[in-house]
Amino acid sequence: MAQMTGAVRPPRISQAGMSRDLLYKDIVGASPKMQRIFRLVSKVAPTDSTVLLTGESGTGKELIARSLHLQSRRAQGPFVAVNMGAIPETLVESELFGYARGAFTGATVDRSGLVEEADHGTIFLDEIGDMPLHTQVKLLRTLESGEVRRLGDSTARVVDLRVVAATNRELRAEVAARRFREDLFYRLNVVEIALPALRERREDIGLLASYFLTRISERRGRRGLRFAPAAMALLERYDYPGNVRELENAIEHAVTLGEGRIIRPTDLPTALREPRLLAARTPPAGEPAHDEPRGAAAHAGSPREAWSLAEVEREHILTVLKRHRGNASSAARQLGISRTTLWRKMRAYGLGRARAGEGWP
Ligand SMILES: Nc1ncnc2c1ncn2[C@@H]1O[C@H](COP(=O)(O)OP(=O)(O)OP(=O)(O)O)[C@@H](O)[C@H]1O
Ligand SMILES: [Mg+2]
Repeated sequence: MAQMTGAVRPPRISQAGMSRDLLYKDIVGASPKMQRIFRLVSKVAPTDSTVLLTGESGTGKELIARSLHLQSRRAQGPFVAVNMGAIPETLVESELFGYARGAFTGATVDRSGLVEEADHGTIFLDEIGDMPLHTQVKLLRTLESGEVRRLGDSTARVVDLRVVAATNRELRAEVAARRFREDLFYRLNVVEIALPALRERREDIGLLASYFLTRISERRGRRGLRFAPAAMALLERYDYPGNVRELENAIEHAVTLGEGRIIRPTDLPTALREPRLLAARTPPAGEPAHDEPRGAAAHAGSPREAWSLAEVEREHILTVLKRHRGNASSAARQLGISRTTLWRKMRAYGLGRARAGEGWP
């Protein structure tokens, strides 16, 4: 169902990357791409312009929507978030526009809708691409007239709204397919803020990881946790199809599983430790797949020159282990290290005994 939130503590956007205020969710990002977004947000927030937030799932659309609200003159007013994908189609209109008593069976009282509740504030229409066509017509009418009419009611009520919409679909394609009204699209798309995928701003991974580690460990009363360098190397190499949300969940997973003060590679979710997934990396949009020869490792989009020493070491150990079918003694001999050292490195890089026991291809 629709979620509603009243005024919340303003997140402070830190130009330098990260602020110290951990009481409410801050927005972290030192990459030029995020710095550009922050500048855009500060510029657009004080205006009443409608904003369309686009970007993959987990890129921070809702966080930015709240920030737009909190940096606007409406900050003291309500922020009403409505997830269009979560409301059953038959209820969408009564939820949004409210109803008069007797408008339909079961309407025993007059009720305001979410649009009215957002009066003097911001309405965040999340997953706007899921809005049914007939509702789109009504929404457009409301936006153009500045008035809302409850279902079954003859009086129109004036509303003062700022609309922020979000979508992780290509809304232009929805317009082309006639699933989204073109007029509403232009009405919403006054300013578009396109949030980049996390893999397109890899510089932010370390910063975000540390930020989440601090926040989560403080919440759990386990201050002072740190990442082992090999764990950080894995975090920095992964692709994050689920973007910042996936990174946040990975850190939570690690804090839950980790014992002691150091987060080790084995504490991270398997997806991050599985090198096969790394090979499937897609290059950032607009960038051609780099033309490194597709050798044994074939890490498309992740040029070896960009790897850290720990990454190269991990990859090499894995290759040698495979070559020796998981036989640590002969792998250690080829690597010129003792078997104990190999075990230690394997543990540090999340290539533990269990994996060796699975049998190597
Ligand atoms: N730049 C950031 N700094 C700190 N936390 C972030 C940042 N971006 C996203 N997050 C966190 O990641 C999670 C996902 O963000 P959010 O819900 O805003 O994404 P979304 O784009 O709305 O995703 P979806 O399309 O799946 O709804 C949230 O917990 C949010 O606080
Ligand atoms: Mg969202």
